[in-house]
Amino acid sequence: MCAMRAMILYDSATGNTEYLAKALGKAMPGVPCCRIGTLSIAETEALGAADRVYLGFWTDKGACSQRLREVLPGLAGKKVFLFGTAGFGAAEDYFAQIIERVRAELPQDCTVTGWYMCAGRMSEVIRLRYEEMLENPATKRKAQLLLANFDAVQAHPNADDAIALLEKAGV
Ligand SMILES: Cc1cc2nc3c(=O)[nH]c(=O)nc-3n(C[C@H](O)[C@H](O)[C@H](O)COP(=O)(O)O)c2cc1C
Repeated sequence: MCAMRAMILYDSATGNTEYLAKALGKAMPGVPCCRIGTLSIAETEALGAADRVYLGFWTDKGACSQRLREVLPGLAGKKVFLFGTAGFGAAEDYFAQIIERVRAELPQDCTVTGWYMCAGRMSEVIRLRYEEMLENPATKRKAQLLLANFDAVQAHPNADDAIALLEKAGV
């Protein structure tokens, strides 16, 4: 019997998801930890041979990033643990909805073994946009909520999130 071959594969635009991926990588020495878009030929072969993939994504329009979508067909038949970060981080049921959308895009014969999501800080440019919305009475209330969320997620992902991820992933 062959040992299970694992791989960590992730997409990260600003480093939040990469932080989680690296925490996983550190906990699983010898398991390749690769950013999508930069895979070498050997890493692409390792992905083909892997039976267990830890798949990390950032949330774009309520689902996974486009770059992640591109690797999904290559995951047919594999066991997949999903992990991700999202800018709106207050509610576990919001995370569960995102995961369901990502799960629906996986090849049908993938087995999702579990998942973990946490909040991920957003760029200051977004805060400036919210501040502009404060000036307009029609968007002021919404802007206050968005600013409160923006400030709350600035502390994530952090070491506690990484620990929670490792627990969920069972590593
Ligand atoms: C273009 C864009 C779209 C985004 N869309 C969402 C979204 O629909 N829902 C959400 O919760 N966060 C959204 N975010 C926030 C990111 O998912 C969040 O900051 C994430 O942690 C970024 O991860 P990364 O640093 O690995 O790229 C969006 C961010 C950007 C730049």
